[in-house]
Amino acid sequence: MGVQAGVLLCWLHVLCAVVFGDVWKVEVESKMDALVSSCVVLPCTFKYPAQEQPSSRIRAMWHTNTKPEEFIYHNDPTRVKDSFKGRTKLIGSLGDLNCSLEIDGVRNHDNGPYCFRVELVTSIKDKYSFVNNCVTIKMIEKASKPELLAETSVAEGQPVIFKCSVRHTCPSHQPTLSWSHPGTTIMSYKDIGQGTWEAESLLTFTPTKEDDHSSVACTVKYHGSVEGEMQVTHQIFVKEQANLSHFIIPTISGLGAALLVGLLCLIIVIKYKKRIADLQSRNDNTESEAHRLHALLENRVGSSN
Ligand SMILES: *[C@@H]1O[C@H](CO)[C@@H](O)[C@H](O)[C@H]1NC(C)=O
Repeated sequence: MGVQAGVLLCWLHVLCAVVFGDVWKVEVESKMDALVSSCVVLPCTFKYPAQEQPSSRIRAMWHTNTKPEEFIYHNDPTRVKDSFKGRTKLIGSLGDLNCSLEIDGVRNHDNGPYCFRVELVTSIKDKYSFVNNCVTIKMIEKASKPELLAETSVAEGQPVIFKCSVRHTCPSHQPTLSWSHPGTTIMSYKDIGQGTWEAESLLTFTPTKEDDHSSVACTVKYHGSVEGEMQVTHQIFVKEQANLSHFIIPTISGLGAALLVGLLCLIIVIKYKKRIADLQSRNDNTESEAHRLHALLENRVGSSN
C-alpha cells in the first residue's frame, strides 16, 4: 500500500469514527492511590466500534504496559502472572461496558502502569489494548488517622453530633468506623470521584456531667491488615446546664420578696390613709368647734349690748 493510500485510509477511519462515534475508547483514572494490604478498585468504562455484545462474548484482560503478555487479570486464570494469581477480579459487568478491576491484598510493588485490553469473540479482528490510557498506582504504606469533626465545649443534656471519616480507594470492601462513646451511629459511603470514596460515621449522644474532660475516640478498621494510625481522639468539656433548682429557687425567693414588700407598702398606705383621714376629721372637728365657740362668743357679746 502506498503512503498516500495509507493516509487516506487513516483519514477515512478517523472520519468514520467522528461521524458514527464508534471508536475504541476507555476511561480510567490515570493515577490512583492504594493502601498496602487493602484493596484498590480501578474504575474503568470502555466502548468498542461494534454492536453491543453480551458479557459472554467479551474477553477482558489487564496487563502491564511494558509487557502486553504479562497479565495481571485474564479471563483464563492460568494466564495471570503468578504474583497476581487470586488477587485480581473484574467487578464491572463487561456487557454494561464496565471494566473496573479490583486488586486485593495490595503489595508494595503493584505500581503498574496497568492497561485494559478487550477482545470481542465475534470477529478475530475486534480486539484492542488501551496502552495510551493506563493506570499508575501510588502505594500508601501507612494509613493516616481518621478525620474527626466535633465540638470541644458541649452543654450537658444537649444532644451533639460528631463526625468521623476516612478516604480510601477500596469500595468493594468498605472500611468500618467505630466509636468509644455510646450513642446512635449512622454509617455512610460516598463516591467522591477519581476512584476515591469517603466512609463516614455520625455519632449522636447527649453529654452528661460524667463526660466532662473525657476523650471520645473514633477507630477505623480497613479491609486487610493495614498499618498506620487507626484512631483519632478528642477531649470534650461539658458545661453544666442551669438546672431546675438553680432557676426556680431564685425566682421563687425573688417573687416572694417582691410580694412581701408590696404587702408592706399596702399596709403602710392603708394605715397612713386612716391616720390622715383621722387627722383630717379631727381638724374638721376642731375647726367646727372653733366656729361654734366663736358664734357663741358673738352671741354673748351681742346680747350684753
Ligand atoms: C462499574 O462497576 C462497579 C462495580 O459494580 C460500580 O461500582 C461502578 O459504579 C460501575 N461504573 C459505572 C460507570 O457504572
